[in-house]
Amino acid sequence: MSKVLVLYYSTYGHIETLANAVAEGARRTGASVDIKRVPETVPQDIAKNAHFKLDQAAPVATVAELANYDAIVIGAPTRFGRMPSQMASFLDQAGGLWAKGALNGKVGGAFTSTATQHGGQETTLFSIITNLLHFGMTVVGLPYSHQGQMTLDEIVGGSPYGASTIAGGQGQRQPSQIELEGARHQGELIAKTANKLFD
Ligand SMILES: Cc1cc2nc3c(=O)[nH]c(=O)nc-3n(C[C@H](O)[C@H](O)[C@H](O)COP(=O)(O)O)c2cc1C
Repeated sequence: MSKVLVLYYSTYGHIETLANAVAEGARRTGASVDIKRVPETVPQDIAKNAHFKLDQAAPVATVAELANYDAIVIGAPTRFGRMPSQMASFLDQAGGLWAKGALNGKVGGAFTSTATQHGGQETTLFSIITNLLHFGMTVVGLPYSHQGQMTLDEIVGGSPYGASTIAGGQGQRQPSQIELEGARHQGELIAKTANKLFD
């Protein structure tokens, strides 16, 4: 079975929750799945004052270990419609892996969170997907086999480009059941694809 890394950055925990759901879906396939975060770059005292969620259990990833996985699923909340500097800084350090072609042919995908429904979900996903394509990776999104994204009965994240949630202006909304199922579904599809390619 393939080795899958769910790599995320989360300030307030919404992406952390989605990352766990992506991993849960990937594990359904028998793949071996690790969840890791990228390093926080905001000074500890500022992070504390701004009520960052500082008790996240996932270990911090190193850039070099990206090469050890068959699939890498990247989750990050939006910052002004694109990925946060914490994730961009981490990926910017992967130039050496890119130069060696160490990530070519791996499977990847993206998931995100925004405060508002139209606050940049798709552009943020594409800022991650662009990076994955430059790495030479095969991108798997969230197809309409996740039917929950079609609903008009409630506010819902998720699009063909990847799983997502809407956190609310104060972070008061948590990922809904439909959004969590979307994240599981995307994780499962990515792991299934990697299992086929690398088993
Ligand atoms: C500097 C900054 C910029 C942000 N820009 C946006 C934005 O453009 N659109 C939006 O909907 N939310 C924006 N947000 C809200 C975050 O995306 C939101 O807090 C995040 O999705 C919650 O995910 P997390 O709990 O995993 O950190 C911004 C937050 C910060 C701190």
